[in-house]
Amino acid sequence: MIKYYEKTRTFIIETKSSSYIFGLNDRSVPLHIYYGARLAHPEEMTLKSTNDTERFTSSVKSFEYRQEYVTFGRGIYDEESIKLRYHDGISDTELTYKNHSIVQNELRLTLSDDIYSLDVTLVYRAFDELDMIERYAVITACGETVTIENAASANIFLPSGQNYEVMTFSGSHMREYTPYTNIIPRGKLVFETRRTVSAGPYHVPFFTVTNTSAPCTETYGELYYGMLKYSGNFRNVFEKNQSGTVKITTGINFHDTKIELKNGESFETPTAIFGYSDSGVCGMRRNIYDLEYEKLAMRANIENPFPIIYNSWYPYFFGIEEEKLLRLIDKVADLGAELFVIDDGWMQGRTNDRAGLGDWFPDKERFPNGLLPISKKAHDKGLLFGLWVEPEMINESSELYKEHPEWVLCYKTREKSYTRHQLVLNFAREDVYNFAQETVDRLIEENELDYLKWDMNRYITEKDTLRDFEIKFTQNVMRLYKHIREKYPRLLIENCAHGGARADFGLFEYCDRINRSDNADPVDVLKLHEGFAMMFPPRYAGGAGNIAPSPYNSTNGRVSPLSYRATLGMTGSMSVGFDILKADEKDIEKTREMIKYYKTIRPILHNSYFYPLSSYTQNKTAIWQYTERNGRNAVIFIFAHGLIAGEQIRNIKLRGLIGDMLYDINGKRLSGDTLMKYGFDLMDELKDDFPKYLAEPIGDFYSKIIEVREAKTE
Ligand code: DGJ
Repeated sequence: MIKYYEKTRTFIIETKSSSYIFGLNDRSVPLHIYYGARLAHPEEMTLKSTNDTERFTSSVKSFEYRQEYVTFGRGIYDEESIKLRYHDGISDTELTYKNHSIVQNELRLTLSDDIYSLDVTLVYRAFDELDMIERYAVITACGETVTIENAASANIFLPSGQNYEVMTFSGSHMREYTPYTNIIPRGKLVFETRRTVSAGPYHVPFFTVTNTSAPCTETYGELYYGMLKYSGNFRNVFEKNQSGTVKITTGINFHDTKIELKNGESFETPTAIFGYSDSGVCGMRRNIYDLEYEKLAMRANIENPFPIIYNSWYPYFFGIEEEKLLRLIDKVADLGAELFVIDDGWMQGRTNDRAGLGDWFPDKERFPNGLLPISKKAHDKGLLFGLWVEPEMINESSELYKEHPEWVLCYKTREKSYTRHQLVLNFAREDVYNFAQETVDRLIEENELDYLKWDMNRYITEKDTLRDFEIKFTQNVMRLYKHIREKYPRLLIENCAHGGARADFGLFEYCDRINRSDNADPVDVLKLHEGFAMMFPPRYAGGAGNIAPSPYNSTNGRVSPLSYRATLGMTGSMSVGFDILKADEKDIEKTREMIKYYKTIRPILHNSYFYPLSSYTQNKTAIWQYTERNGRNAVIFIFAHGLIAGEQIRNIKLRGLIGDMLYDINGKRLSGDTLMKYGFDLMDELKDDFPKYLAEPIGDFYSKIIEVREAKTE
C-alpha cells in the first residue's frame, strides 16, 4: 500500500512487515525518513528540518539531507545515484518535485532540474505480502543533449548510527556462491563487476545486511536484503559517512561508460528489489522464492516439475556422433530420464574446443542427416529433446569469422586475447544480434527443440569504442533471452555460463533452470547448494550432470558412491551425466531405481521452500528440509561426510509445517506442532543404519531421505 499525506508532504510505502517513508522538504527535494519494521503510526514520521540550504555548512543538516536519489553536485560528497553532464560542461544536478501519481501499489514520482531540462522519474512498487519494494529510475532529456555519467537503480538508507554487516556471495568457476561477511566501515565497501557479460560468479548482485548488535540467525531476527535484475556490470556500494549515515546504492556499474540522451530520449535503469525480514534468513528465503515462483517464473513451466535430464557432456565431451546418440537414446528412455540433451560438440568441426563456434550447423561427417533424426527418435521414445548453444562466441577457424571478421571484439592495434581458444562477437551490434536471433530461432524450429541450453564460456577483454558498449551488450543478451521466452513460451531454457556465472536476477525470469556449477563433486556441492538456495529455489539448480562420473577429475578427483551422488541429485534439478553405454548393469539398475523413487517426491521438491536444518558449512552433517509451499508435505535429506565416531544428532526441529495438522513420518503420526517444537529424534530414525556405524567405516558418504506426509484418514 502506498499513501501520500498532503499536509506533511510525506510518502509512505507499507508492506506486511515494513514501512518505508520519505518526505519533501521546503525546496521539494525528496528526503529519506525511515525504512524498517512496520510502524503503527507512520503519519507521526515527518522530516525534522525542511531547510536544506544549511547542508553545506552543518554536519547535522548534511546528515539529515538523505536524498531519495542522491544527486552529484554541490555539497554532496557521498556516493551519488545520478551524475549528469550538461551541454555547457556543468555536472551539478538538483532535482525537485514536479508531480507524482499513485496507482494501486505503484508510485511514480517525477523530479526535474529548474535550470536544465530533464525529468527523472523514480518508480516504486510495493509487494505487500512479500515485504519487498521494487525501484528503478527513468531519466528523460527534455531540451539540450545530456550525458549520463552515472545512474543507479536506487539508493536506500538504513537507520543511522548503527553498525551493519553485509553478506555477499562471491566465488569463481567451480566455487560459486560462497558467503562472505564484512562490516560496513566508515567509508565505502564496494562490490562490483567489470566483465561485461555476466554478474557472477565473482560477485552475485545480491546481498543481506544485518545490524551487528541485533543478531540475526536462520530463524530469528531482522535483516535487509537486495537484488538487481541485471545480468551485466553492476556496482553495489555500502557506505557509512562521517555523520554515521548508512546508505546502500545499487545499479549498473558506469565505470568507463556514458550514455548520451538527445531531446525526448530516455534511459531506464534496471530494477532493484529491496526486502525486509523480521523472521531471520528463512523469512527472507521464503519471500524470495515466492517472488520467483509467483511473479518472475514462467507460469506454464513452473507449474510442472522440471524433467530429468540425460546430458552428453560429462560422459562424452566432444566425442558424439549420430549412431552413438541413437543408441544412447534407448538407454536413456530405459533409465527413466525424460529429457535428452546434446551438449557441446555437435557443430561443424567441433571435435575439440578450437573449432565450431559460429558455424551453427551439425557436423557433416558425424551427423550426416542433421540432428532431426535424433530429435525424432527421442520424441518417439517419449523423451523431450534439447540442444546446447553458445551464441555470443566464435572460433577464428569458423566460416562465420571468414565472412564477418568485423563482428569480433578486438583492437586493431593489439593482439587478440583468447580464452578457451575463442573470441567474442560484438553483441552490441544490431547485425550480430540479428544473426544470433535468427540462428537460435532456426535451431529451435528445425530441430523441434523442447529445451535450449545457452552457455557462455569467457569474459570480455576487448571492447567496442561505443561509450555505452557494455550496457548495449548486456541489453542485447537480455533482449535475446526475452525474445526466446516470448516466442517459444513452452521451451525450457537453461541459463549457463561455464557453470553458474549467470546465476543472477536479470535472467531469472527468462529461464527455467540455471547451471549451478560445473563442480559436480558431491561434497563440494553440499556447500555450493546452500549458497545457491539462498537466492533461487532448488528446482532451478541445474548443470550438465549432478549424477556425474566419479571421480570427476576436472574437479578434485574425489571418489564417491553412486547412491550418494544420486540422492544429492534429487535435491536440485536432477540430471544424469555418466556413460550409460559402458556402465556396470548394477549402477544402471541403481540409478533407474532412484529415478523412479525421485519421481514420487519430485512434486514436493519442485514446489518447496528450502530449510537448512543443519548446514554443511557449520556441521559435518547437512540436513535439508524441503517443505511443500502449502506446508502439507516435506522431504528431509541427510548427508553426512567426515563424521567423527560417536557424533550424534538427536532432536531435529522441522520448519514450515502446519501446527494443527497431523503428519506421517516413518510409521509415526505426529502433529506439525510437535514436529516443529520438539522435533524428532534423528537417531531413532536412523537406528537401523546405526549398527553399521560401528561395524563399517560409514562416517563418509552417508545419505538418507525421510518423508513427512500429510496424514490421510482411511
Ligand atoms: C561449460 C558448461 O558449464 C558445461 O555444462 C558444458 O556445457 C560446457 N561448457 C561445454 O563446453
